[in-house]
Amino acid sequence: MKDLTLFGMPIALDEETGKLVSSSSDIRWEDYSRKYSDKMEGLLADPDYKKTDDPYYDFYKAIVSDKTRTAFSDVALRYDSTVILPGYAGKECKKTAGHFHLPIPGETFSFPELYQVISGTALFVMQRVDDYKKEGPMTVNDLLLAEVHAGETVVIPPDYGHCTVNIGEGTLVFINLVSVNSMNYYDSVKQSHGMSAYVYHTETGYQIEKNPNYTFACEPKIVVPTDSPKLGIYKDVPVYTEFLKNPDLYQYLNAPKELENEFFAMLKEK
Ligand SMILES: [Fe+2]
Repeated sequence: MKDLTLFGMPIALDEETGKLVSSSSDIRWEDYSRKYSDKMEGLLADPDYKKTDDPYYDFYKAIVSDKTRTAFSDVALRYDSTVILPGYAGKECKKTAGHFHLPIPGETFSFPELYQVISGTALFVMQRVDDYKKEGPMTVNDLLLAEVHAGETVVIPPDYGHCTVNIGEGTLVFINLVSVNSMNYYDSVKQSHGMSAYVYHTETGYQIEKNPNYTFACEPKIVVPTDSPKLGIYKDVPVYTEFLKNPDLYQYLNAPKELENEFFAMLKEK
């Protein structure tokens, strides 16, 4: 059992099963699901990868304790976790499916999303395209690849499609904080056979390859996150703990325009 102190609550990782375990009866999640490799068909770099029984990732929806439930519901935010299991599809690192968020009702832009890595190392692929609902190849206008280690946090800016890739050797555990009103849109990533960057495992780390199903008006940028007091983000401090001190500070996840520049300013080019 591996203690995951960055959760901010007593949750551990059972390394045998890859599942999260809570040691307190007070803590629960609303839903749990495991995605296997067959559900990743059409999203992988190798279209012929056909394994059906390889677990890819688990999703734990709405993790709360009885004491903190209203702190989240009062500001319409949800705290979830995803666990990406170790291993590769051929040479491609395991990843989440990838999606865009639909626009905020009454606005022309979408909800952002905060992610903190709890254990392992992630590469967050964030892409802005000309039109994520169009037929045919999408043009990528901005492609940010954020290397995020345990204890670090990144915020996906509004309108950026995103997926998370496990670039470490072991299991990757991360949490997200997102508006309960945010709706995911998966079709365009599926139609393009994944996000615009494929990530391969190498002897020395990882390697990026552009997905040929997109056209590119930019080059990928590798970035790393830094602390952001304005966004309530500090390295090695659980977002969960920081959120409970001042839930209203995180209202930028429901109304992002005022702090949007900060989502980019906290990312430094590597
Ligand atoms: Fe998302």
